[in-house]
Amino acid sequence: MHGSRTATTKRQPGPRTMRVLGIETSCDETGVALFDSERGLLAHALHSQVELHAEYGGVVPEIASRDHVRKLLPLVSHCLAEAGLDRDDIDGVAYTAGPGLIGALLVGASTGRSLALALGVPALPVHHMEGHLLAPMLEADPPELPFVALLVSGGHSMLVEVRTIGDYRLLGETLDDAAGEAFDKTAKLLGLGYPGGPALARLAEQGDPSRFPFPRPMTDRPGLDFSFSGLKTHTRNLYQRHAAERDADVTLEADIAAGFQLAVVDTLAIKCRRAMQHTRARQLVIAGGVGANLTLRERLKADGEKHGWAVAYPRLAFCTDNGAMIAYAGCQRLLAGEHTGLGIAARARWPLDELKPPATEAAA
Ligand code: KG4
Ligand code: ZN
Repeated sequence: MHGSRTATTKRQPGPRTMRVLGIETSCDETGVALFDSERGLLAHALHSQVELHAEYGGVVPEIASRDHVRKLLPLVSHCLAEAGLDRDDIDGVAYTAGPGLIGALLVGASTGRSLALALGVPALPVHHMEGHLLAPMLEADPPELPFVALLVSGGHSMLVEVRTIGDYRLLGETLDDAAGEAFDKTAKLLGLGYPGGPALARLAEQGDPSRFPFPRPMTDRPGLDFSFSGLKTHTRNLYQRHAAERDADVTLEADIAAGFQLAVVDTLAIKCRRAMQHTRARQLVIAGGVGANLTLRERLKADGEKHGWAVAYPRLAFCTDNGAMIAYAGCQRLLAGEHTGLGIAARARWPLDELKPPATEAAA
């Protein structure tokens, strides 16, 4: 008796080659991709819900779920057509099972699981953060393991030592707001739309980062944890103090945006340097939506050159949520023989350190 792990599998893929459909629906982006273990990424497509949520100033979970329902299957068909494949060419389905918005996750999980059942192939629940951590592996010149990853998104800020796929050691994390959340909230304060991170970064380009002093939170004490809520409050107080001059002071918002951005970038860079020294790693990887920030990228690249470590980033489209990272992560685990039964897995919360390397789980 093999139990539920193999009960749903009609055809066992060969050990070396596999074409995996990846599905990402954890938040406000519907992402789909096809990854081939030999040929690499065959197709990927993304539908962003930004416009749907913009008028509410943030993601509305019910609207997110309903839109995933509308967009997911058309995106699957689109990817298959782009890759010149049909459904029978899919050897496995990987879907984001958490962490994220539970309703949104359930759309991808139930669709992915059902598709796999209909096709007689294995399905695999993927951890969203594992997807982000492994996204740079999709690039032509992938980073070498082990590495230290700075994972900075709208919901998370963490430094993780990646020893091998599935062997992750949390080195530090945020005690309050995530870096992306701090960007989004500060952008809202300055009257920029949703999502705030990219808009704040654009405004910062026109500002003078040295006009106002900003703190570098938690850099004056040892450790690798972050805290951004004090910086957010500092920015709010600063903006309120200058409320009377807002109309006359045409660069006020841009100068605040630039000072805030530099404070976040400095803080992240200081912690990255500490993490690299602490682990003696030679490779740093930047992952998650805030990894799209060009000031952060330039700063970490310069630090890497100065201290002698390599810095890898996924392409900009794979820094933010996407299906390709889920297809890739799922493919590595499916190749090792890992898959689950007919249950639909979805977890709003799912600590990263619960993951294990694929071989260990497959053997379990
Ligand atoms: O990884 P992601 O797409 O979604 C999750 O949170 O999982 O990250 C989205 C976050 C948002 O907070 C967004 O404002 C931020 O990444 N972001 C940026 C930039 N692009 C996206 N923050 C700063 N600068 C950017 N260029
Ligand atoms: Zn994400």
